[in-house]
Amino acid sequence: MMKKTVLTGLRPTGNLHLGHYFGAGKNYLKLQEEENPFYLEIADVQALTDHFEDPEMVRKNVLEMTKDLLAIGLDPNKVCFFIQSKIPEIAELTVFYSNLVTVSRLERNPTVKTEIAQKKELFGNQGESITYGFLGYPVSQAADITAFDGEIVPVGDDQLPLLEQCREIVRKFNSIYKETLKEPQPILTKTTRIKGLDGSDKMGKSLGNAIYLVDDASTIQKKVMGAITDPQKIKKDDPANPDICMVYYYHKLVNTEENIQKVCTECKAGTRGCVNCKKELIAAMNEFLKPIQERRKYYDEHPDIVMKILEDGSKEARKKATEQMKKVKQAMQIDYEKN
Ligand code: TRP
Ligand code: SF4
Repeated sequence: MMKKTVLTGLRPTGNLHLGHYFGAGKNYLKLQEEENPFYLEIADVQALTDHFEDPEMVRKNVLEMTKDLLAIGLDPNKVCFFIQSKIPEIAELTVFYSNLVTVSRLERNPTVKTEIAQKKELFGNQGESITYGFLGYPVSQAADITAFDGEIVPVGDDQLPLLEQCREIVRKFNSIYKETLKEPQPILTKTTRIKGLDGSDKMGKSLGNAIYLVDDASTIQKKVMGAITDPQKIKKDDPANPDICMVYYYHKLVNTEENIQKVCTECKAGTRGCVNCKKELIAAMNEFLKPIQERRKYYDEHPDIVMKILEDGSKEARKKATEQMKKVKQAMQIDYEKN
């Protein structure tokens, strides 16, 4: 039986934080151990839809993000890392697909809708900040997936409307032209969203509540010391409720089963002070990040190896996209070489 192709993408706009690790990275690590082809796109073109005025930032983060992904243990022999802009077939497909989706459908896409609302809040209500490229990025994302015959797409739940949009484009293409494309399925991680240290629902760069995989010991110390605990606990020996404490929440992510149990019991019994509890979390967090940062250091010292991984991966990905493009053009009757 043919193995289904896994495809996912990330916008290179910053370093990875623990939210990315638990929300997506762990899923990738599991998937790379299965035998399916696995393409991982560094979506520089998509990042530029939002950040076209900041090319240096995107450029820098293509490398940063790839290093972070390698640091968490993704193996370039098992995962094909590629850069979106290196695959012109994606741009070509985007143009073809743009006929198959209406402007109003894009405006109704819940993910796009939320992003447009955020932009209007930032830049005023005129809608003038919404570019053609931005509105169309779900179309380009459909091209990202289908250019490689992606059938399994590991993503966070915020991406589900984009997947649905892709599936609609696929169905439309297959019904107008000829059965050519496959409908991709999302797979979600158990924990798609990690709370921030401040207790807010999502860890995020803009929220300033995130722990990055590259954070050093003193940064971690500062961040953990500022984390939100049970506000009812005033004195060191007050009993408290760990379930509303962010320190406990993070113990559960990075500590051992035995220690987690201990934190919980002692917190409830009032035999554990918050300062000490935070110190233990800092130690556990550093321990957790150690192997990641060791691998990261290796790639920091060998940027040429990272570039080579991206170049080789992009070549391999392009081969696949070229094959797929032949089928698409044939279905659309624009395969002139044939005549
Ligand atoms: N839109 C995704 C994000 O913001 C990134 C992405 C680009 C992607 N192309 C993709 C995700 C293809 C899955 C499949 O995180
Ligand atoms: Fe949170 Fe630990 Fe304080 Fe309990 S003892 S409230 S788990 S920091």
